[in-house]
This record gives sequence, structure tokens and C-alpha cells, in this order.
Amino acid sequence: MFSLRLDGDLTATLHERRHASELYALVDANREHLDVWFPWPAETHAPEDLHAFIDGSLALFAKGEGWHGGLRKDGHLIGGISVHNVNRKIGRAEIGYWLAATEMGSGTMTRAVRGLLRHLFDDEGFTKIEIRAATGNRPSRAIPERIGFREEGVLRHVDLLRGTPIDHAVYGLLASEWKAAHDEEAHP
Ligand SMILES: CC(C)(COP(=O)(O)OP(=O)(O)OC[C@H]1O[C@@H](n2cnc3c(N)ncnc32)[C@H](O)[C@@H]1OP(=O)(O)O)[C@@H](O)C(=O)NCCC(=O)NCCS
Repeated sequence: MFSLRLDGDLTATLHERRHASELYALVDANREHLDVWFPWPAETHAPEDLHAFIDGSLALFAKGEGWHGGLRKDGHLIGGISVHNVNRKIGRAEIGYWLAATEMGSGTMTRAVRGLLRHLFDDEGFTKIEIRAATGNRPSRAIPERIGFREEGVLRHVDLLRGTPIDHAVYGLLASEWKAAHDEEAHP
């Protein structure tokens, strides 16, 4: 199993078909808040419905074009985290995430995203990471804002959620900005 230590008790593990039941149980328990921002939970009625998504993620991973993984705290699945829309030539990628409702409100996802940024910038050599969030999704937007991403603009009408057009706020962080912020922390 591919597993990436993000921070302390937090790891990201690449989804495999054998995780489908565990993942389905978490999605099923969190439909109420996931349905607000994602179309896929409403289309997921059984673990098998996740197979195509899992296979797609494994194919992405094999090509070095990203992955979708489980976020685990002390080994227990508590959410999802992903790297997608990867462009290795430019050194650019996007991060996505969701958390079980029981885990929200204590900085866990912010900590996980910081850990993933450390990996993407320091180990994989990416030069820019983006996070895109629906303009109305305050908790999601707060994560890049807390970490020091720059808000680069709003893309209008990029998605449909239950028939309603959604605008995305785009946040970007350059490797040079990440490094400068961490050098400053190390040598204030
Ligand atoms: C987006 C999502 C992961 C954010 O969850 P979250 O719990 O707010 O994010 P974090 O785990 O980073 O926690 C931040 C919260 O913990 C609080 N917190 C406590 N200690 C903290 C710490 N040490 N560091 C940072 N935040 C801390 C923050 O104040 C914030 O709470 P607030 O919103 O009441 O101010 C969650 O809302 C979610 O899963 N939403 C549905 C899916 C979704 O929208 N995904 C994103 C699609 S773009």
C-alpha cells in the first residue's frame, strides 16, 4: 500500500479496490455535508460504485499524474485528499480534500495540506500548487488562506451543482513563496 506520512498521526494512503467498503462507509456517514459541495456522493450507493473512481486514481498514479487517497489519523480513515490536474512540465498541480464531519474544526485538514505541500515542493519538486474552491465554500477557502496562498481570481460557471452554476476561487502558492515562508520560520 502506498502511504505518505503527512504530519505526526496523519497519513495519506492511495485508494485501492480493497478500501472500497471502508471508504463507502465514511462517505455514507457524511452525505449530509458532502452533498453540499460534491455531486459524486449522491451517485454513490454501494462500495462497488467507487471502483471506477479508484481504478482511475490508480491509473493516474501509475502515469505520475496524481492520485486520490484516504486521509488517515492513526490509521483510521477520516477523509479524502488528492493531487490532480498535474502538469509535470510546468511543475504545477492542484490539491483537493474532504473531511468527516466528526473531525472538522480542529485544524486537521490544514495540517494535512501543509504536510502534502512539504512533500510536493520539497520531495517532488513542484513549483506551483493550486487549490480551487467554490466561492461560497468558506471552510474550504479558509485552508489556503490560512496557509498563505494568494487568491488569484474567480473562474465563473466552471461546474454545476444540482443544476446551479458554481464559481471557483483559485488560490496559488509558488515553491519560492513556500520556501521563503519556511526559511523565515527557521531563521526569524
Ligand atoms: C473543507 C473542509 C475539509 C474544511 O474542514 P475544517 O475542519 O474547517 O478544516 P481544518 O481541519 O483545517 O480545521 C479548521 C478549523 O479548525 C479550527 N482550528 C482549531 N485549531 C486549529 C489549528 N491548530 N490550525 C488551524 N485551524 C484550527 C479553525 O479555526 C477552523 O475552524 P473555524 O472554521 O470554526 O474557524 C470541510 O469543511 C469539508 O470536508 N467540507 C466538505 C468537502 C469540501 O467542501 N471539500 C473542499 C472542496 S473544494
